Amino acid sequence: MSLDGPRRHHRRTDSTNDRARELALAGAESGTFVTADEQTAGRGRRGRRWSAPPGAALLCSAILRPLEARHTLLPLAVPVAVCEAAESLAPVECLVKWPNDVWLRERKLAGVLIEARPPEWAVIGVGLNLAVADADFPDDLRWPATSLGHGVGTDQALAALRESLGRWVTAEPDDVASAFASRDALRGREIAWEGAAGAGGSGLGRAAGIDERGNLIVETSSGDRITLGSGEVSLRLS
Ligand code: BTN
Repeated sequence: MSLDGPRRHHRRTDSTNDRARELALAGAESGTFVTADEQTAGRGRRGRRWSAPPGAALLCSAILRPLEARHTLLPLAVPVAVCEAAESLAPVECLVKWPNDVWLRERKLAGVLIEARPPEWAVIGVGLNLAVADADFPDDLRWPATSLGHGVGTDQALAALRESLGRWVTAEPDDVASAFASRDALRGREIAWEGAAGAGGSGLGRAAGIDERGNLIVETSSGDRITLGSGEVSLRLS
């Protein structure tokens, strides 16, 4: 399966994920990409907003259909693809902060918002900062952000992302898990979590990789091993 379908570009729209969702509902083909120079209501995970100055970030949403068993680790495959795209464009090395933030030098370079109607389709939204000045990031970010720089433009970034996403959305789950493991920014580090179902709401522990479903494994201070399937996970800064 490739992700080389048509591109719908908007100079300004509320959210490329919303535009892509409409297209998915109307039957648009897999690999359709929606892009925008600017979003007026860009959305992040957990109900947060996502903003970037016009033209300073790659803002795109891809339709993937249908969803199959091999897409179990899609939320991890996408940030791996974003890392590879970024590394093909500039001399950088990226990591993934579970589940799907892309980090460059401990700062957030890109975010991923996947919205799906299984087994029919998923909309894969990616915001990749290319040339956002430090002063232009919102003041209320939970974690510092950064940009790729090196003069990389949005069309160049989109071409690289299409190529790497096409490879990673068709990858076997074992390969996705290995690639994620080699880029796991949290592994071995002290973390805090909150809002995680089945994990007592919040807690502290040490990240210990992912299980076969892509859940985060955590070793608590009492020696228990638990898994987090969702919720907010942050590094514990001491
Ligand atoms: C996150 O880190 O919370 C996810 C951010 C995802 C942002 C992208 S920008 C393109 C697409 N359209 C949206 O409204 N959100 C995603």
